[in-house]
Amino acid sequence: MPQVTLTVNGKAASVEVEGRTLLVEVLRDKLGLTGTHVGCDTSQCGACVVHVDGKAIKSCTTLAWQVDGSTVTTIEGLAAADGTLHPMQEAFREYHALQCGFCTPGMVMSAIDLVTTHPDGLTEQQIRDGLEGNICRCTGYHNIVKAIAAAWPVMHGRGTLAAAAE
Ligand code: FES
Ligand code: FES
Repeated sequence: MPQVTLTVNGKAASVEVEGRTLLVEVLRDKLGLTGTHVGCDTSQCGACVVHVDGKAIKSCTTLAWQVDGSTVTTIEGLAAADGTLHPMQEAFREYHALQCGFCTPGMVMSAIDLVTTHPDGLTEQQIRDGLEGNICRCTGYHNIVKAIAAAWPVMHGRGTLAAAAE
């Protein structure tokens, strides 16, 4: 079987795949990174979003061989080695942006991409539009939107989460 080589959360990984093997299957089944979820079979829910070479993608509709040689970051790779959460994770916690948590890994990965790609600012409408590919069945989205808005200044070095919450 063909071999695919990836860097996943900073570690080299080489796995055997079939032509039909999905990236999410590699992450969950071969590498044990079960923080990336599968919530649908129609590429709609976004629970499976990870970063490939810094861009958010749906790993349920990406074939493993398509990303051979890429750098992949999953929700497990966001926190620092000492356990310090990524600012987006911290914002989700601070603003109660999750309930059951099933959508949260994909939400956080999409939100980071959204903030990163909007260095000049992010309106509430842009956040809501940017989350179009992520479905949450619990929260009603309001706190997710607030968390992303609060993480924006932190991620761009323009403020703290505490200041954003005031
Ligand atoms: S699992 Fe639903 S979009 Fe990927
Ligand atoms: S927190 Fe339950 S699906 Fe989003």
